[in-house]
Amino acid sequence: MTVAIWNARYETGIELIDAQHKSLFEAINRLAEAFRLGQSREQARECLAFLMKYVAEHFQTEERFLHDVGYPELSAHRAEHDQLTGLTQDLAIRLASGEPVTMDVTIFISDWLQRHIREVDLKYVAFLRDTGRN
Ligand SMILES: [Fe+2]
Repeated sequence: MTVAIWNARYETGIELIDAQHKSLFEAINRLAEAFRLGQSREQARECLAFLMKYVAEHFQTEERFLHDVGYPELSAHRAEHDQLTGLTQDLAIRLASGEPVTMDVTIFISDWLQRHIREVDLKYVAFLRDTGRN
């Protein structure tokens, strides 16, 4: 099931980050598909574990990059990242405890990521452009 659709509005112009964002969309869609098909809790947990690992890797890449370019809003940006990490950790706990979880959570994660890219990531793109660092 496709809950996250990539389009040009999400482009940062930074090849590695764009590639990672696209992979995150794919991982969210795989998780949504696991819910749609009513797959076992185990399969949903596997998809979520993959997503969480990828989210951690991507945030690390992005934060290191922002640190290296001297981005002044890095700590606020990092706090946003921690928010998504927390959301996915809560979901993992709910899935592990047998609590009922619906596909709505994947839509929530998808919306969160899309908003984050458009409103928060694109701010550092503007910073790079304005300061001639890209
Ligand atoms: Fe970000």
